[in-house]
Amino acid sequence: MAAVLRGRCLPRAWLCRKAGQGGGRDYRAALCTELKQPLTIEEVAPSPVGPREVRVDVHFCGVNFADILVCRGQYQERPHLPFTPGMEFSGTVLETGTDVSTVKEGDRVVGVSFFNGMAEECIIDQKMLWQIPEKVSLQEAAALPISYTTAILALEHRARTQPGETVLVTAAAGATGLAVIDVATNILQAKVIAVAGSDEKCKLAMERGAQFCVNYNQGSLKEAVRKLVGSGGVNVAIDMVGGDVFLEALRSLAWEGRIVVVGFTGGNIASVPANLLLLKNISAMGIASGQYRDKNFPVLSKTLSSALQYCQQGCVQPHVGTVFKLEEVNDAFLHVMQHKSMGKVLLSPK
Ligand SMILES: NC(=O)c1ccc[n+]([C@@H]2O[C@H](COP(=O)([O-])OP(=O)(O)OC[C@H]3O[C@@H](n4cnc5c(N)ncnc54)[C@H](OP(=O)(O)O)[C@@H]3O)[C@@H](O)[C@H]2O)c1
Repeated sequence: MAAVLRGRCLPRAWLCRKAGQGGGRDYRAALCTELKQPLTIEEVAPSPVGPREVRVDVHFCGVNFADILVCRGQYQERPHLPFTPGMEFSGTVLETGTDVSTVKEGDRVVGVSFFNGMAEECIIDQKMLWQIPEKVSLQEAAALPISYTTAILALEHRARTQPGETVLVTAAAGATGLAVIDVATNILQAKVIAVAGSDEKCKLAMERGAQFCVNYNQGSLKEAVRKLVGSGGVNVAIDMVGGDVFLEALRSLAWEGRIVVVGFTGGNIASVPANLLLLKNISAMGIASGQYRDKNFPVLSKTLSSALQYCQQGCVQPHVGTVFKLEEVNDAFLHVMQHKSMGKVLLSPK
């Protein structure tokens, strides 16, 4: 039975999509109907594709920390209920709108959407789809858009990482952390000191190319880094955790070091001691890769195209840790929240 969505404050996009008389079968989608509550899987009636839109048969959808925050009402963007989360996905083109010129039925594509990925089907503007090169699997492709574009943008576009420099990365065994290790070592020829919360995660980070790994549950991060690189410090720090971990990463920087704020998995947002910036000529900066969609789309598009090409050439390889079924979406969220994820977590409606 198709989901009946009445008497709620629905986002415009949802109303357009679900009220339509599109062809095809009903499909399953994960729905957030109430914040902070488990998602439900419901049958949804298909809607027609707009002239510039594409209907995609979703094979894999990335599970991101941000999806969980959105479903808890803790993200900067707060959608109206109900909605289907899912920011990145891969699949094959089922149907194209009349004005679509970039892809055709059957093409393998990867998409970046803010919502709607955690479903068997997703309708998306052609502009937000990229063709998947031949040697890149659908699973690998789904792991690229958020983690790899963020890693490339943080390391290259923001921190201007140079060959031979040393990069410190926190939450290193997470999806973004492993992407940072991959891009830093294999594309930028930098050295990486990984920082992670268990010996198992450190082992994975080292296997994926980090030169050293510090378990930050075993003493001072700054002291551990000092032992590894001396008092000079590291050139670049990419921080996903925030709070005290961010501050220790900041204190581990060398003269003219750069620190990039990527996320706050630890839950605390640190204040930057401005004197540290002054004393060592340090630059502190942020990256919100999703904002390039509206503020500088060519940068986002070029970066994702580069990630796909690097993968096609075998220069980088995303590490997919766990694939959950669509109906296991709540288990997937729990897996991430309980620090269990190692590499990319994906959902598959297949
Ligand atoms: N700004 C952007 O554009 C952007 C893009 C992508 C991701 N992000 C952000 O970057 C962060 C990492 O994303 P990801 O996709 O790499 O996540 P992930 O794969 O789920 O990894 C997150 C890691 O964070 C660490 N962590 C520390 N405190 C935690 C806590 N309280 N709960 C859960 N995990 C905790 C865990 O590693 P340890 O056990 O090693 O501590 C965990 O493995 C998130 O905050 C995400 O929102 C931002």
